[in-house]
Amino acid sequence: MQVYLVGGAVRDKLLNIPVYDKDWVVVGSNPDEMLSQGFTAVGKDFPVFLHPKTKQEYALARTERKSGSGYTGFECHFAPDVTLEEDLIRRDLTINAMAQTEDGTLIDPYGGQRDLNDRILRHVSDAFVEDPLRVLRLARFAAKLTHLGFTVAEETMSLMAQIANSGELEHLTAERVWQEWHKSLATQNPEVFLSVLRDCGALKVVLPELDCLFGVPQPEKWHPEIDTGVHTLMVAKQAAKLSSSLPVRFAAQVHDLGKGVTPQSEWPSHKMHCHTGVKIIKKLCERVRVPNEFKELALFVCEQHSNVHRAAELKASTKLKILNTMDVWRKPERLEEILLCCQADHAGRLGCEDNPYPQKAIFEDAYKAALSVEVKDIIADGFQGKTIRDELDKRRIEAIASIN
Ligand code: CTP
Repeated sequence: MQVYLVGGAVRDKLLNIPVYDKDWVVVGSNPDEMLSQGFTAVGKDFPVFLHPKTKQEYALARTERKSGSGYTGFECHFAPDVTLEEDLIRRDLTINAMAQTEDGTLIDPYGGQRDLNDRILRHVSDAFVEDPLRVLRLARFAAKLTHLGFTVAEETMSLMAQIANSGELEHLTAERVWQEWHKSLATQNPEVFLSVLRDCGALKVVLPELDCLFGVPQPEKWHPEIDTGVHTLMVAKQAAKLSSSLPVRFAAQVHDLGKGVTPQSEWPSHKMHCHTGVKIIKKLCERVRVPNEFKELALFVCEQHSNVHRAAELKASTKLKILNTMDVWRKPERLEEILLCCQADHAGRLGCEDNPYPQKAIFEDAYKAALSVEVKDIIADGFQGKTIRDELDKRRIEAIASIN
């Protein structure tokens, strides 16, 4: 049997970026031989095995034929006579369809190295359209590699649009959509995931709540970029610059979903969007099965971002009310996360990228001042039961007011 390193590990090695996962393909073998060599079978649909020591994945070379809907509807053929080239041609992108022998020789039958040099994300063959998941994968690779200059080939974009129009994206499970969205949040440019999906018409199928923000105007005075969709992409970009936290990046992307349901008669104003957005985020998170940690932060940011922006005008009692609503006493890290999202929202406007955001320090100072009030002092002063809470709020308000 011959063993080759394939896929992302070869790509990332050639790009000089960290390799996290190593996938191998095995040519000229069969399941019995793999098992006899100590490998463990793991593939349910495909002949995939785990190496006895490294636990890395070794897949028998295979060909695939579309046999049904969605990304699971494949007939898979594996046999010792399936060649490496036959295995590579079924893969999504040319830059993912290269292999390397154990001595480091590159095998590149479909122009992966050329496309790496030209910074092009290009499909390997028309079989690309057989797997709708690839639309999301490609958008995610664009997000991962855009900082290196990568763009999507025009003809690949056309195939993605074809998939988006075909109705096949509707067969993607919530888990797959979230898996790719989640991975895109960890890239250097998560906004590119959304913009590529938008450009090929997939965003309206998989995340219509975000897609419908495009074309919705906002007041030019605050939002020189005007379009809410454009603003959302800018906020997503700023959030990734400000924070490596994936929940922060997610919350920033969905903070304005309420603007998608403002009646046209009220445009460009969106008075209710902080309230209307909450319901939409809840539904979206349920549909895509977004983990609670992400959902909770997104709800706070949606509900509170306009309040935080007005920090300089707020009374001490209002600031405390907002801090109480955020429950920052039990989850102190939440304040910083919410404030970073608000800062990204502020910076995610045309011409405002480098503007200061003093609102963040105002809330941080208010929090610190409120935190300096000690419950034990209140008890020592003779307060009991419910009066402790009231006195705590009173002293916290005084402490916040004293720094104004
Ligand atoms: N692959 C594919 N189509 C898919 C999934 C995977 O063609 N729908 C192929 C690609 O050749 C890919 C390889 O399988 O490179 C391994 O897939 P995966 O581990 O999901 O992605 P990587 O390319 O390794 O990238 P990353 O680890 O960054 O997700």
